[in-house]
Amino acid sequence: MNNAPIGIFDSGIGGITIFKSVQELLPKENILYYSDNLNSPYGNKSKKEIQDLSLKNSNWLLDKGCKIIVVACNTATTNCISLLRKSFKQPFIGVEPAIKPAAINTKTGNIGVLATKGTLNSNLFSITSNDFCSKINIIEKNGDGLVEMIENGILNGIEIEMLLVKFLSPMIKSNIDHLVLGCTHYPLIIESIKKILPDSVKVLESGGAVAKQTKKIIMDNNIIGNNTNPTYNFYCNGIDNSLKKILPNNFKINTI
Ligand code: DGL
Repeated sequence: MNNAPIGIFDSGIGGITIFKSVQELLPKENILYYSDNLNSPYGNKSKKEIQDLSLKNSNWLLDKGCKIIVVACNTATTNCISLLRKSFKQPFIGVEPAIKPAAINTKTGNIGVLATKGTLNSNLFSITSNDFCSKINIIEKNGDGLVEMIENGILNGIEIEMLLVKFLSPMIKSNIDHLVLGCTHYPLIIESIKKILPDSVKVLESGGAVAKQTKKIIMDNNIIGNNTNPTYNFYCNGIDNSLKKILPNNFKINTI
């Protein structure tokens, strides 16, 4: 048993979609969430910048005593999860676009992937897409601008819908039947996304899979927590308005 917190980080509020799944599946764990809003978005940064920021965030969480780190960011995972695993002795869980279930279940043979430039250009993403999608057509779109809007608290309305129409129209024209949300920020705008897509398109995200994997690694390493009153602490190094907007009032947000 180990009652130390699970550490979760993202470039901002996107990782809250992962936090919710982890909290639900592991209700006796303390959780510490770090939002690197000051350096958001990660999507257009170089691999080196993403690596340096991810190392910094991990060090911060580990200094606070976290027993395991969940990298709740596709961009950070696809650019540096192996570096993080090599750099620290604690286990690391990452999040990647859910291409595999989309590739297995597609009937039209066309799937859409909406993700950041950093994720779409990464080696890990091309390895995964080659492994699972050699016989199907992937329509990839860089959701440039979406993370900035979401970090500014814009989760619906005409501005974000217009941007989404630009990204999703070519996918709809290509007859996709699955849309993979390859950025943890995007489930926060799922209502706007669903308004634009035909009902027949299934939208996939990775929160549930990440939570299951976190539970498995915690069990395998014998570090399960048993906190009767678990604590959830949120830290933000920039503007925390959007974090306040999506979290219940009783959760404590610390500005650092
Ligand atoms: N939530 C991050 C991801 O999953 C957002 C990346 C960004 O900051 O651009 O990729």
